[in-house]
Amino acid sequence: MLSFKGKDLYVENVKLSDIAKKFGTSTYVYSKNQLIKNFQNYKNALTKDGIICFACKTNSNAAILKILAKLGAGADTTSGGEIYRCLKAGFNPSKIVYAGVGKTAEEIEYALKNKILMFNVESLEELDLIDKIAGKLKVKAKIAFRINPHVDPDTHSYITTGKKGTKFGIAYDDAVNAYVTAKKKKNIIISGIHSHIGSQILETKSFALAAKKINKIVKDVEANGINIEYIDCGGGLGIEYVKGEKPATPKQLMSEIFPLFDKDKKFIFEPGRSITASAGHLLAKVIYRKISGGKSFLITDAGMNDLIRPSFYDAYHEIIPIKRTSAKKVKTDVVGPICESSDFMGKDRMLPVVEQGGCLLIKDAGAYGAAMSSQYNSRPLLAEVLVDGNKATLIKRRAAYEDLLLNETSSK
Ligand code: LLP
Repeated sequence: MLSFKGKDLYVENVKLSDIAKKFGTSTYVYSKNQLIKNFQNYKNALTKDGIICFACKTNSNAAILKILAKLGAGADTTSGGEIYRCLKAGFNPSKIVYAGVGKTAEEIEYALKNKILMFNVESLEELDLIDKIAGKLKVKAKIAFRINPHVDPDTHSYITTGKKGTKFGIAYDDAVNAYVTAKKKKNIIISGIHSHIGSQILETKSFALAAKKINKIVKDVEANGINIEYIDCGGGLGIEYVKGEKPATPKQLMSEIFPLFDKDKKFIFEPGRSITASAGHLLAKVIYRKISGGKSFLITDAGMNDLIRPSFYDAYHEIIPIKRTSAKKVKTDVVGPICESSDFMGKDRMLPVVEQGGCLLIKDAGAYGAAMSSQYNSRPLLAEVLVDGNKATLIKRRAAYEDLLLNETSSK
């Protein structure tokens, strides 16, 4: 919900220059109504019994989580900390699923005590530990196996997870045996099957291929007298970071997947990026301009510690000045203040020369933005603001220098 009104760029009905003035920069700015719209796209597409479990690793700000919990979302979590955040935000534990290759005993106990819907189990050793801890607590643990379907979607290699040889899940060929083993465990209830093939996937072809392979396992497992209630298809739908990219919609995805399975199945989807990415942006100020070695640079107060995606995945985020200008466009690198050459927000962008003190918006940073930020170079974490219509609310205060020392025991 970004638009120019006159010369000014707005998020919903709030002028970004007003946000910069009131809350300072750099600041993550979210649109509540874009977030709701993105979630409703999934909810409306889900014509079968099932749950949309928001992948909270993309953005776990309490205000964002509360909005989604209120809309009836479930949560896909990947650590005890994420389960904690989701419970605090009001998610129903019976809609929380928990994946991750390295769940610790403490995390498993925490999840069991809080009665989550199911563990997406990634190894037989993990299964043993869950069984043991459930026995100790005198409860039954509901599980799905995360099966690695050995599918290689077209996306960045760092965010491909369902390919043969990655650390994720149970290898495809070992899937049926894993279920047979689980059936013998006293404290385990088999509830579903899970797969997640990767992230920022624009087409449905690889999802459908994975689903077909998963259905083959479901049939083989059921032939062994084991019922599979939930088909958890993971997340992974991409968004349009680059103009012209055409990501498949939730409706297209689901209408390809549903017919592949028996009618009585319940479905879980775990979208993250496609719910939060386009609902958030990073508002940054130009600190300096310079020309060096024949190149033009805009140096912003947002660095790779605030948004690591460009540096880490060579990811593209569109960058636009928040004031329309007729100034001539020049090829520009937008860089941050961190002491690393990989500290950039965008390279070789055709941008008008923005005055010192002017602001840029780094678009579509609502997923894996603030959530992946750090205090590297001792830079305090950013403020986060939520816009709803003409109201802008601070949902995370900007950290202060004192916060940098918060947990250091010799700081007094
Ligand atoms: N479910 C599981 C088990 C996952 O591992 C993930 C993401 C999701 C769901 C959500 O996927 P999404 O709908 O957001 O694509 N930091 C990277 C992306 C890492 C994805 C990790 N897993 C990035 O900034 O591109």
